[in-house]
Amino acid sequence: MSEQRVLLKVENLCQYFKVNKAVDDVSFDIMKGEVFGLVGESGCGKTTTGRSIIKLYDITSGNIYFNGKRIAAGTGSYRKAIKAAREEMKTASPERKEELKQLIMQQKEEIKAAKRDHFAKENRCVTEIQMIFQDPVASLDPRMTVYETIAEGLIIRGEKDKKVIDEKVFKVLERVGLVREHAGRYPHEFSGGQKQRIGVARAVVMEPELIIADEPVSALDVSIQAQVINLLNELRHDLGLTILFIAHDLSVVKYFSDRIGVMYYGKMVELATSDELFAHPLHPYTKALLSAIPLPDPMYEKNRQRIKYDPLSAHDYTVDKPTMREVAPGHFVQCNDVEFAKYQQELKA
Ligand SMILES: Nc1ncnc2c1ncn2[C@@H]1O[C@H](COP(=O)(O)OP(=O)(O)O)[C@@H](O)[C@H]1O
Ligand SMILES: [Mg+2]
Repeated sequence: MSEQRVLLKVENLCQYFKVNKAVDDVSFDIMKGEVFGLVGESGCGKTTTGRSIIKLYDITSGNIYFNGKRIAAGTGSYRKAIKAAREEMKTASPERKEELKQLIMQQKEEIKAAKRDHFAKENRCVTEIQMIFQDPVASLDPRMTVYETIAEGLIIRGEKDKKVIDEKVFKVLERVGLVREHAGRYPHEFSGGQKQRIGVARAVVMEPELIIADEPVSALDVSIQAQVINLLNELRHDLGLTILFIAHDLSVVKYFSDRIGVMYYGKMVELATSDELFAHPLHPYTKALLSAIPLPDPMYEKNRQRIKYDPLSAHDYTVDKPTMREVAPGHFVQCNDVEFAKYQQELKA
């Protein structure tokens, strides 16, 4: 399905808030045309990652590239380097001082370039990247008709021709399984599933290249969830969309995602193709997530043991520190040297 061209590149993304590191050094690529699933329990930083990509934050550090262009950049790492250099300067030899001065100047240039890219008007990507939100009730303005909701983005983008707007709105309504008669109604007149279809329509009408779907079915009844997932899957194929699909458990993303990234407390802990992740999960947190998925198989269910993940007993990171490493082609795990060797053995077995 994917063309093997990187559409979105997230590089060492950090988003720190006052009290916590919501996203801490997260990197991943999304290929054009693929569905990339991002999973992890509530509070692990998934939404913050999504919001960083649509530039709702001025990120702490790291870079985000879209179609090869840097659209977001943080300056934290450069500032840190300057601080360290100034500190070292205090006791450095004269030659080293010269080097450090150079280094500081370079970092200042990096900061300038990062700000330039981050705040450039043409890098806002208001059309190219669209988001679908978790709670369709909260994300729709109750005072706006369906028509107004869907047309809003087009109008903001500068579309003035009423005929063009009408045509796009009615077409997209039908595309998401609603009818044009719905256009004049208000959100409260719709069921949860229909509201989320309106949310999908509002995103799709902009003809984006990338859609960030942030737990788009979590608030819906199980019976409705599959319908919305199927809709997204159809749209993906028909419109050549690329989707970052955020979920808090693996069952939802399993069949839909080409690749999956697993987050835990602000870190990416494992990243692989969907098939590989389900066949050979390596990180203990991924194993715990998998053990939580019920299967429609009574024998399996009878024996299913939920695995608990306790980072302190699962890893010894006191000396040997973890980094993201490629254990098998395309299969990345957050691990240290000892774990890396162990995981490779596990894959061979
Ligand atoms: N605007 C914010 N200010 C401060 N802390 C935040 C903000 N947004 C999220 N957080 C915190 O960052 C962490 C990650 O949150 P979030 O990205 O929403 O997680 P998820 O979407 O995976 O449930 C949480 O601890 C959350 O409380
Ligand atoms: Mg969230």
